[in-house]
Amino acid sequence: MRVAMIGTGYVGLVSGTCFSDFGHHVTCIDKDVGKIERLNRGEIPIYEPGLDDLVRRNVEAGRLDFATDLTQAVKEAEVVFIAVGTPSRRGDGHADLSYVHAAAREIAQVAEGFTVVVTKSTVPVGTGTDLEHIIREAAPEADIAVVSNPEFLREGAAIEDFKRPDRVVIGTTDPRAREVMAALYRPLSLNAAPILFTERNTSELIKYASNAFLAMKITFINEMADLCEKVGGNVQEVARGIGLDGRIGSKFLHAGPGYGGSCFPKDTLALMRTAQEAGSPVRLIETVTTVNETRKAAMGRKVLEALDVPPRGATVAVLGLTFKPNTDDMRDSPAINIVQSLVDRGVTVRAYDPEGMHEARKVLPPSVIYTSGAYECAEGADCLVIVTEWDAFRALDLDRLKSVLKSPTVVDLRNIYPPVDLISRGFKYTGIGRGHPSSPGE
Ligand SMILES: NC(=O)c1ccc[n+]([C@@H]2O[C@H](COP(=O)([O-])OP(=O)(O)OC[C@H]3O[C@@H](n4cnc5c(N)ncnc54)[C@H](O)[C@@H]3O)[C@@H](O)[C@H]2O)c1
Repeated sequence: MRVAMIGTGYVGLVSGTCFSDFGHHVTCIDKDVGKIERLNRGEIPIYEPGLDDLVRRNVEAGRLDFATDLTQAVKEAEVVFIAVGTPSRRGDGHADLSYVHAAAREIAQVAEGFTVVVTKSTVPVGTGTDLEHIIREAAPEADIAVVSNPEFLREGAAIEDFKRPDRVVIGTTDPRAREVMAALYRPLSLNAAPILFTERNTSELIKYASNAFLAMKITFINEMADLCEKVGGNVQEVARGIGLDGRIGSKFLHAGPGYGGSCFPKDTLALMRTAQEAGSPVRLIETVTTVNETRKAAMGRKVLEALDVPPRGATVAVLGLTFKPNTDDMRDSPAINIVQSLVDRGVTVRAYDPEGMHEARKVLPPSVIYTSGAYECAEGADCLVIVTEWDAFRALDLDRLKSVLKSPTVVDLRNIYPPVDLISRGFKYTGIGRGHPSSPGE
């Protein structure tokens, strides 16, 4: 099957490559000329484990190519995906659909024969209907069906998630489109992935409801962490104790500095706006977004409180900058708030991230000093803060760390170290939701 993928970012590049690995012929298209040039040179513009190999193999097999112009690929394609960005619109939090609308117009003008246009971008309920109007206006004769097929992959585990998804959601009531989508995803049936066909609005809503629910789960455990700190309790044990209940589940119950990333912050806001306008506000999610913003702001204060010296003139080493491990994505990372609030108080920030420093330079204050590794980062610092739980930070030589730090103070915002490991070596320790730093479960 011929597939065109419009937008070659985290979602477009991974899903396009995985479709080609299933045997389809895929052209990934992007307006960003630099990105396509790099891909054509065999370079991968994002960090995603395993993606470089998969791209290379499928390019070599002649099933995957890249272009800046969509005309040829869309003409030939039976399925055209829209996987462009849908960031928050400045000012009101709505999803900015200008890239999606522009892509739909361009597709309409060149599509030939029956073409299924699929929104893989996360788009508010009703967008599919709007796209039908846009396409009809741009090309009244075009034979196009608009389908919703939201993407649930997680950066850092994107290939595995795409190939072995918990489910595939396809929103369409058009029988021809359903047949095409079923054929496209047939290779996944070997992996026993449930394919859920729904009406289009429902499919669009499923994506927002999923992300909002996950954001709520994280925020719930973060509030439990705060409570543990006040009343005495260990949030990791609380999480385990509730997570073993099958109705709750153990995933997304890791207390931390607040959720960030390219999806949860913008998708919760967009859902709130949709719901408010529909006269059916999602008050739980309104609270979740407020609690999360407050939390991210509070994390800088937590670090400042841990310092034994005045902030002005102090040095803080920040380990981990990306919003989660195994990605270079800095979008809405809690590190941005933390670093900014430290710099605002006159702190010198040293930082290290295994993959995110290139992106971090674009969004962090220019005074941040980037270092080449965890120990180099800690060198001479009055405090070490772990912001992202990269594997590389999980087994640091604590004695070496202590010897390079100016003051042995650690703020572990991901609870990757048992407090006792640090306290027994003479570190001053602050974690998340550790009202009892040494409990029997450690
Ligand atoms: N990143 C994730 O983990 C993830 C997961 C699930 C869903 N999503 C959703 O998928 C969508 C894409 O997200 P992303 O993280 O891949 O975005 P991204 O910003 O990494 O990539 C989007 C790409 O689209 C390109 N683009 C924009 N308009 C174009 C046009 N008219 N023609 C060709 N290219 C165009 C941009 O140049 C950019 O390279 C968003 O709606 C997002 O919410 C993202």
